[in-house]
Amino acid sequence: MMGTAMDAKPEIVVVDDAAALADTAARAIVDIAVEAVKARRRFTVALAGGVTPRTTYERLASLPLRDQMPWDHTWVFFGDERGVPPDHPDSNYRMANAALLSKVPIPAAQVARIRGEADDAEAAAAEYARAMTEVFGSRRGELPSFDLILLGMGVDGHTASLFPGSPVLKEVFRPVAAVHAAAASIPQRFTFTFPLINAAARVMFLVAGSEKAKVLKAALTEPASGLPASMVHPVTGRLTWLLDRPAAALLDVGKKR
Ligand code: 6PG
Repeated sequence: MMGTAMDAKPEIVVVDDAAALADTAARAIVDIAVEAVKARRRFTVALAGGVTPRTTYERLASLPLRDQMPWDHTWVFFGDERGVPPDHPDSNYRMANAALLSKVPIPAAQVARIRGEADDAEAAAAEYARAMTEVFGSRRGELPSFDLILLGMGVDGHTASLFPGSPVLKEVFRPVAAVHAAAASIPQRFTFTFPLINAAARVMFLVAGSEKAKVLKAALTEPASGLPASMVHPVTGRLTWLLDRPAAALLDVGKKR
């Protein structure tokens, strides 16, 4: 069922462990992709960085799912990137490429990475927004609506590279921004902003591990927490939190099962 309103309740799915989370997420991605291609002949997805999604990407790159994905019709973007070259150990592109993109028959022109190595970060962010506009064929001022945006959440409640207290949380115009995240090991970051994230048809958080339990509870149950992850509210799209049991341990839904 599609969520229809901004205040529609998110769907919360709890699975046993990180492996089950990867399986469930990878299967969901295939389903969403197949449906999008059926409806619009194209699947547009923004990948998440960090550690959690890697096993999901590996599942997607392995049989049987690899052969079920409509790679020819898939367009891959990145919801955030670190200010490093694409071969750097901290590059989100590098991780996704190693785990997924280099292993599947996706046309190279359909993978758009953020130029993390750029000297002019603002220009690189603007360039990424333009690349997106071209693929989506969006009109001036119109936000692309991704079929799927994958997100993770840090222990401080950040998502993509939207960190607590950052001025970019209030961005209303630019879809992609270059940001400085003082608390992060690589402070130069690039990130989708809330207007772009919230314009998506589907947003799916992947959150695993007991160290996320406390902040997850705050993000889901304290609307005034101000945590960036709690500010994700697709305007007409559907929001899913896919959690493993350790991450969900402090939620009612996590305890019940
Ligand atoms: C990044 C991210 C970030 C990530 C969270 C969770 O580039 O760091 O996209 O938002 O999703 O920090 O990361 P882990 O999965 O590594 O805990």
